[in-house]
Amino acid sequence: MERRSIDSPERLTSAAQEVLAGGVSASMRHHPYLGRPLFLVHGEGAIVTDIQGKQYLDFNMSNGATMLGHRHPATQRAVRDALENGMITAADTPYHEQLARMLTEIIPSAERVRFASTGTEVTVVAVRLARHVTGRTKLLKFDGHFHGLSDVFLFRAADSQAGDLQAVPSSGGVPASGADDLILVPFNDADAFDKALVRHRGEIAAVILEPVHYNAGCIPPEPGFLEHVRTRTREEGIVLIFDEVLSGFRMDLGGAQAYYGVTPDLSTLAKALANGMPLSALVGRADIMEQLAPTGPVAHSGTYSGHPLSVLAALATLEYLRQPDVYDVLLEVSETFYRDMQAIFDRHGLPVVVQGLGARFGLYFNRRERVRTYADALNHDHELNRRFVLGCLDRGLYMHAYTRQGAPGHCGFSLSHTQEHFAEALTIIEHVSAELVKQS
Ligand SMILES: Cc1ncc(COP(=O)(O)O)c(C=O)c1O
Repeated sequence: MERRSIDSPERLTSAAQEVLAGGVSASMRHHPYLGRPLFLVHGEGAIVTDIQGKQYLDFNMSNGATMLGHRHPATQRAVRDALENGMITAADTPYHEQLARMLTEIIPSAERVRFASTGTEVTVVAVRLARHVTGRTKLLKFDGHFHGLSDVFLFRAADSQAGDLQAVPSSGGVPASGADDLILVPFNDADAFDKALVRHRGEIAAVILEPVHYNAGCIPPEPGFLEHVRTRTREEGIVLIFDEVLSGFRMDLGGAQAYYGVTPDLSTLAKALANGMPLSALVGRADIMEQLAPTGPVAHSGTYSGHPLSVLAALATLEYLRQPDVYDVLLEVSETFYRDMQAIFDRHGLPVVVQGLGARFGLYFNRRERVRTYADALNHDHELNRRFVLGCLDRGLYMHAYTRQGAPGHCGFSLSHTQEHFAEALTIIEHVSAELVKQS
């Protein structure tokens, strides 16, 4: 079959609207500011190319999945090798054992490992396990933390005068079934967390969180907060789940749990794990993980779980990330980049807060204070953010953007980004900042 090659974004958008719901293959591919997808057809290292041949310096990196860079030789080779074996899925191989063993060496909480394809799947299984081992049903999550698009998590908070924040469906049109089982508290608020634990004593199966809230840009935990959550969940017999789908491998080989030295009971990993190939992992304490069938009664499986192409890509990715100094260099480079970016905004008198940790960061327009909670993250200047993101795109810098109303996007770089790429990005940011000031 001949492949289609429509090279005008407008014509492709119209054609897509005839066959794809909403004109997109997945809702978030609708770019909130372009009003259509950014159609990308090629990636090489830190550069992506759109259907018209325009190149962008990529500071989205497949929403954080392509940590080594696009078309990275290590993962290209691994996937090619895997293809040669035929695409037998739904079968275990020695590579699954090898990858699982590697994860137990790298991730502090990993005593046992399971694979799936997406982050959404593993967060669902983590909750299922927690409910089984505790015999409880309630879940405590933090406002705005993203754990995939399963119905259990499709809630965010509405302000409530008394008690917990109220769970409301964040996906319009979804009936609010399951809201009664959800307790929502603001991130970084130990007091609110403590009160919720007391109010729901004996009812909470799991506390789940993004240890660094990258899905709202980049909100790190306040000093001592993760430790506090760890101590209190242990005291209350609650399963603590770190959702490291985005934070995994981002600032430390062992993820945020290694970086902060706080070990949860279960963790979820995906994205950077296989450098863009669809693979996720649920890892955790042996006594909990062994409750999965066949040793226990809890269900987890899937035709594509631990797909061989992805497993070989992950082995190659982790071998690469395991090299000495990778994270020392990454942290040094990132800190300099974030400092330089902040200096540009400050020099132009633009009130922007740059918050970054490791290879991902968020930009909060029209703010001067640090962002500590999701409510803070929502309270940024959406219009200024829109003009900045579009100005960058126009000049060939691709920053992540979510929606017109929500938190700003979570931008990030890969290990293929060189000093020249960072310098080019800063030059573009300098120009766009000057334009924003001129327009205001
Ligand atoms: C922290 C977190 N958890 C879960 C998910 C869901 O992962 P997936 O999109 O692979 O289903 C995401 C995706 O962005 C995520 O960032």
